[in-house]
Amino acid sequence: MTKRMILNELAYFGKGAIREIVPFVASHNVHKALVVSDEVLVSLGVTKKVLDVLDGAGLSYEIFSKIKPNPTIQNVQDGVEAYKKADADYIIAVGGGSSMDTAKAIGIIINNPEFADIRSLEGEFRSKNRAVPLIAITTTAGTASEVTINYVITDEENKRKFVCVDANDLPLVAIVDPDMLASMPKSIAASTGLDALTHAIEGYITKNAWALPDALHLKAIEMIAQNLESAVAGNEEALENMGIAQYVAGMGFTNVGLGIVHSMAHTLGAFYDLPHGVANALLLPYVMEYNASATGEKYRDIAVAMGVKEAVDMTQEGYRIAAVNAVRSLSVNLDIPQKLHEVGVKQDDLQDLAESAYIDGNTAGNPKETSVDEIRSIFETAL
Ligand SMILES: NC(=O)c1ccc[n+]([C@@H]2O[C@H](COP(=O)([O-])OP(=O)(O)OC[C@H]3O[C@@H](n4cnc5c(N)ncnc54)[C@H](O)[C@@H]3O)[C@@H](O)[C@H]2O)c1
Ligand SMILES: [Fe+2]
Repeated sequence: MTKRMILNELAYFGKGAIREIVPFVASHNVHKALVVSDEVLVSLGVTKKVLDVLDGAGLSYEIFSKIKPNPTIQNVQDGVEAYKKADADYIIAVGGGSSMDTAKAIGIIINNPEFADIRSLEGEFRSKNRAVPLIAITTTAGTASEVTINYVITDEENKRKFVCVDANDLPLVAIVDPDMLASMPKSIAASTGLDALTHAIEGYITKNAWALPDALHLKAIEMIAQNLESAVAGNEEALENMGIAQYVAGMGFTNVGLGIVHSMAHTLGAFYDLPHGVANALLLPYVMEYNASATGEKYRDIAVAMGVKEAVDMTQEGYRIAAVNAVRSLSVNLDIPQKLHEVGVKQDDLQDLAESAYIDGNTAGNPKETSVDEIRSIFETAL
């Protein structure tokens, strides 16, 4: 079967990388940006770091910031109107996955107006035309939305988050600048870092895995294991490494897909507005236990990448337990809740949650064939 790799045309990393916007604009015949960010980032002055670069170079822009975490259909529709009103011809996204995903959807709809309802974009490769040029600057480490061809939108009316996978939305330029990550509160640095770990682990064990993304996923797991706790504690170098690690995971999973941790996390986001990173972080060890029997020797590699060097000589049962334990203890050390009832999940919702997770776009990539009943029983265990 043909394998695919698709990545940004350009990506910049390191302190001060946001200044690369200026030469990009000079060489791309674009004139006015819609800066897509969220209210919190605007109020904290994070967005302003980018606006200062634009002002310094005399570049024109308008800001759109009506975006909530787990962004909604309405957020996207408002953004499309803002883009038209601003008479913009490119987008600069400044934010976490919520801002970057909203920016992708806006850019797709501007050049593919037949999808203005947004819901019809769900699924794979739906649009015909490339989105408007997008520079994606991440402020979390993170979703890696700056290098993925995915965006996830919440349909509040139907209590669903739906995934759109479309090469036409890939940001032309990705920027991972540690100065943009530095203001993350500890809880957000921890949960978004564990989202990145979930991408790397699900991407490594997915049915579609193959050698090239495997190498990226293992490197990402190793870097996250080595840097996440120090990054959350405020170490600058570790935070810069987390920015790179989450991007490396993104380079992998955008090309092979994920599994049911993400299916289940999406339904928790839609039902309870639970932050995406927290949902993944909580579910990951439970789903790893469930999937273990379908992963051959892969948990040995995961355990070693997590820093359990002795796993090389362990039995299959031993290294599988070691991999799950390493992930669980990282999550405990980072103060992630370990049970779903702690984050408001209700027993009465479990059947609906399981049905909704089962039809999520990520379920097909799960290494183990699953069912509504089995997903429900994972939810039960985690409750
Ligand atoms: N496109 C993809 O491939 C992909 C992958 C995973 C998740 N997602 C989606 O991304 C969304 C989650 O994104 P996220 O986890 O990056 O969080 P987010 O964008 O929802 O941000 C969470 C909160 O953190 C704040 N924040 C972000 N950066 C900050 C900073 N530097 N300083 C202070 N506060 C900051 C935001 O203002 C917001 O209040 C979900 O909707 C999820 O489904 C997309
Ligand atoms: Fe994710």
